[in-house]
Amino acid sequence: MPSKPSSKAAGAEENPPAPKHEIALEDLPGIGVTTAEKLRESGYTDLMELAVASPGDVAEAAEIGVAVAQKIIGEARRKADVGQFESGTTLLERRKRLGRITTNSKALDELLGGGVETQAITEFSGEFGTGKTQIAHQVAVDVQTASAQGGLGGEVVYIDTESTFRPERIVDMAKGVGIDPEEALRRIHVARAFNSNHQMLLVQKAQELARERPIRLLVVDSLTAHFRSEYLGRGELAPRQQHLNRHLHELLRFADTYNAAIVVTNQVSARPDILFGDPTRPIGGNIVAHAATYRVYLRKSKPPKRIARLIDSPNLPEGEAVFSLTGEGIRD
Ligand SMILES: Nc1ncnc2c1ncn2[C@@H]1O[C@H](COP(=O)(O)OP(=O)(O)OP(=O)(O)O)[C@@H](O)[C@H]1O
Ligand SMILES: [Mg+2]
Repeated sequence: MPSKPSSKAAGAEENPPAPKHEIALEDLPGIGVTTAEKLRESGYTDLMELAVASPGDVAEAAEIGVAVAQKIIGEARRKADVGQFESGTTLLERRKRLGRITTNSKALDELLGGGVETQAITEFSGEFGTGKTQIAHQVAVDVQTASAQGGLGGEVVYIDTESTFRPERIVDMAKGVGIDPEEALRRIHVARAFNSNHQMLLVQKAQELARERPIRLLVVDSLTAHFRSEYLGRGELAPRQQHLNRHLHELLRFADTYNAAIVVTNQVSARPDILFGDPTRPIGGNIVAHAATYRVYLRKSKPPKRIARLIDSPNLPEGEAVFSLTGEGIRD
């Protein structure tokens, strides 16, 4: 679908127009149908992806020479809106439209500076059973409520990579915040991702959906599980991180374009090199660290309590919050 020109009078709940660089790869000189297909399979789905890619990566992905790849990238740079500057005023206007979604726990909201923020990625990491999926479900319900109740009156895209989305939990939680459970389920658009490429493709599909529906939250539960199981050996760490990086940047772009919140979950891996302190850390290393604006590390406490800790936030003090996992959802 072609993007519509923007009308600047967009209300707070209205979605901004789609980005301008969505021109088909085939429109570039030197790219035929086969090459375009190969590129898309490797995750290069639009001009911007190509414009910022390295010639070596593109050559490998499309099985073409580096010189040809360089030409293609050059063309993509000319056609895409690379290096488009925004004035501080525009940025301030955009920041003013920031929305926040309650987690239904005052303590957790405070830790996050008032709830889960739009135009940002919030990561919840922790061991199994620490409540990552429960929080994702809760926010998917809360975003639907009116702003007076801590929501944005929005809908949800939920990318489920581990088949742990449970409509029954949505029903429980919707009742818990007093909204119609059937309506709540209708406003959550769930897709199961079968592998990491599919997961990335679903973000593109989410863009299409967001042009028609007021999507204000995109959940990826779990962000890293597929990447982790598909790229196993040591030598595969670099391609894994590259793919994950592209995925995260597509998510960030979604967040900016639709003024949506991105909630991702992440498991932790053991660090054999740590003797003192917490011997685990979130998967994905500095790639996730750079892309996620808010990183919340969860651990278990006396049931049903959980402890959330904010790690390396640029603008909030480090701190901890205690919340509970109850039948009705997240509570203080
Ligand atoms: N209906 C319910 N009533 C009360 N507590 C529940 C209910 N459903 C789940 N829980 C709590 O949530 C916990 C599971 O949390 P969750 O599934 O969010 O973990 P997770 O961090 O996503 O784990 P994983 O890494 O395995 O995906 C359970 O151990 C339980 O404490
Ligand atoms: Mg889970």
